[in-house]
Amino acid sequence: AIDLTGRHFLKELDFSAEEFRRLIDLAAELKAAKRAGTEVPRLRGKNIALIFEKTSTRTRCSFEVAAADQGASTTYLDPSGSQIGHKESVKDTARVLGRMFDGIEFRGSRQSDVEELAAYAGVPVFNGLTDDWHPTQMLADVLTMVEHGGGRALEETAFAYLGDARNNMGNSYLVTGALLGMDVRIVAPQELWPEEAVIARAHELADASGARITLTEDVADGVRGADFVATDVWVSMGEPKEVWDERIALLAPYAVTMDVLRATGKPDVKFLHCLPAYHDLGTAVGREIHARHGLSSLEVTDEVFESAHSVVFDEAENRMHTIKAVLVATLAG
Ligand code: CP
Ligand code: NVA
Repeated sequence: AIDLTGRHFLKELDFSAEEFRRLIDLAAELKAAKRAGTEVPRLRGKNIALIFEKTSTRTRCSFEVAAADQGASTTYLDPSGSQIGHKESVKDTARVLGRMFDGIEFRGSRQSDVEELAAYAGVPVFNGLTDDWHPTQMLADVLTMVEHGGGRALEETAFAYLGDARNNMGNSYLVTGALLGMDVRIVAPQELWPEEAVIARAHELADASGARITLTEDVADGVRGADFVATDVWVSMGEPKEVWDERIALLAPYAVTMDVLRATGKPDVKFLHCLPAYHDLGTAVGREIHARHGLSSLEVTDEVFESAHSVVFDEAENRMHTIKAVLVATLAG
């Protein structure tokens, strides 16, 4: 039997395919139980710290609701509300919080910070996103692909990720698809492909899992036959505003439009996005981009986002069920 008690959740590469699948299965069980009103709280008396060095809507709310459903308490440390990093080292913070909490979530820039927390906390540490990886997002995306896959096995599922692939989402999609034996296509200009070391790890995983990996600059080739098309913002949290112009120029051909969905050749292709999304430019940042570039959407058109192909809100809901699975698997004992 697979036992994840006491384990950290820092990056996909730390897990076997069986362990990763166990978390997906557990999330599906917990989701069904919540819907049926039969959820059993298994984390009563547990306390979980949520450290957010970067902002969040879904990840924070997922941890809080998941913990509450399971009877645990959370303490939220906002991007400015703790000493971590400025006045106190990560190592000292880890040793303090580890004395008080049963588990610690961390969202920030550096993967080395979440790894250092894990090394010194003495309790499970969960990566809520770093510049390198977004592993809890991958659980939600895979659960969503299972739910919308029409009974297809993951090994028979193809997905294409378009856009900035040299970021947390690009890295995570590549290694997760490789781990689970999927048909993974990274569709981006070569300068925005994942780092060579990540691609090499993905190929190693694919040798073991039977995954097919494609990295291509050609949108039509990349999406042909894909059951799912995914994208992400073109500029990530923590990147300077100045990169917008360059990214828009590089990535405009990789925007997910209805033509891109048609090019899959799959009438029931589904669209994924971790969110937040620039499908309309109605937010403050969006309005500024609209004024500078005259565009009405960036990585995905409003038409695709609002279409029947789009499963982005199921995906967002699944953040909660999958994060709950991580908490239960690692902390319930
Ligand atoms: N997808 C995601 O991680 O969303 P938040 O940044 O709102 O947590
Ligand atoms: N790549 C994005 C993902 C947001 C959930 C970012 O890091 O900002």
